[in-house]
Amino acid sequence: MLLSMDPRPFPHADVITASLALLAERVGDPTPLVYARLFAAQPDMAALFCNDASGAVRGEMLARVFDTILDYIGERSWAAHLLVAERDNHAAYGVPPAVFATFFGMVAATVRDVLGPDWTAETAMAWDALLDAVEAAPLSA
Ligand code: HEM
Repeated sequence: MLLSMDPRPFPHADVITASLALLAERVGDPTPLVYARLFAAQPDMAALFCNDASGAVRGEMLARVFDTILDYIGERSWAAHLLVAERDNHAAYGVPPAVFATFFGMVAATVRDVLGPDWTAETAMAWDALLDAVEAAPLSA
């Protein structure tokens, strides 16, 4: 069912949190890296941000994505609902749902590149589980 979430704690949440802490420590603001990756993979999406000269919208969106990840691996109180709402909002301004769902993978790939050798098999497993969970439940409808 679309809006329900597995009530069990997300496994390896601490591994995801630690990887995000390392990301912040190494690059500070990862916004340019994530969007460079997105626009390389989905060039059509760049035009949607043409009014965002300062990068404030991109930064705010990414901040909300990180908050969503932290809720999803933590309290799980609102992440699934926000994802469904944003998937529909984004479709209205030209982001196909299938593309919307790719954003978490862009974040994961950015973390992987920045962590380099600190991206371990355990980190990969934790992020894969997160991407599978997010894409399988709230984003698949
Ligand atoms: C490839 C995937 C995505 C693309 C291309 C995309 C694109 C956009 C664009 C163009 C805007 C600006 C809309 C406007 O104000 O005109 C926006 C805003 C926003 N997006 Fe995304 N989005 C994606 C994925 C996501 C995801 C996964 C989330 C999950 C939370 C999200 C959350 C938001 C939020 C909260 C805003 C509003 C930011 C603000 O306060 O201005 N987006 N997105």
